[in-house]
Amino acid sequence: MDNILRIAIQKSGRLSEDSLKLIKECGIRFDNGAGKLKTSATNFPAEILFLRDDDIPGYVEDGVAHLGIVGENVSVESDRDVNTVHKLGFSKCRLSIGVLREHDYAGVQDLEGKSIATSYPKLLGKYLAENNVTAQIHEISGSVEIAPSIGLADAVCDIVSSGSTLLSNGLKEVETIFKSEAVMIASKHLTAGQQDLLDQLLFRIKSVQVAKN
Ligand code: PRP
Ligand code: ZN
Ligand code: MG
Repeated sequence: MDNILRIAIQKSGRLSEDSLKLIKECGIRFDNGAGKLKTSATNFPAEILFLRDDDIPGYVEDGVAHLGIVGENVSVESDRDVNTVHKLGFSKCRLSIGVLREHDYAGVQDLEGKSIATSYPKLLGKYLAENNVTAQIHEISGSVEIAPSIGLADAVCDIVSSGSTLLSNGLKEVETIFKSEAVMIASKHLTAGQQDLLDQLLFRIKSVQVAKN
């Protein structure tokens, strides 16, 4: 096992397609049978694991996966002890606060005493503390943008990409608290052989990125 790199990528979601594309552009070939959660590369000593993105930082911290491709938002929120080895330049998005469109909003102090629904309690808590605002954080794992319209919270803090989810739920973006893109994270416990494979992979990734610019 010492000379195999296990790379965890998102099974389905906004990072999946570009993560697979990047691995293929690095010249790594594998059989990607539908529904398969693990596959071996045929021309590089690597295995690809298809996981929920939120689980990837934990697997990489534990060394079950040696590398992972995740949003920086997910990695930072997870607070896991991993190395961020490279920014990948895709899946750019931002973590923002939104309020109902009809609400007047003058600034972050308006959030004092309010309730905010989010899947990012740590990042939001840090932002509120830095701004000396005390608000109630309601943690929910998805469909966060529904919260204000059903009276569950006064505001939301969630990922914004195109902005269409905010728009279609009657919300407006009022603060951006974190800018994110896909990153490669690595375990802190790689063997010398795995570190060498990671260096080879990073060299290929950088070449692919240079060729695109
Ligand atoms: C993400 C995010 C927002 C939406 C933003 O949700 O949580 O809800 O996408 O994208 P947009 O600005 O382009 O509309 P996702 O689809 O990942 O589902 P989830 O909320 O269940 O994680
Ligand atoms: Zn997710
Ligand atoms: Mg969402």
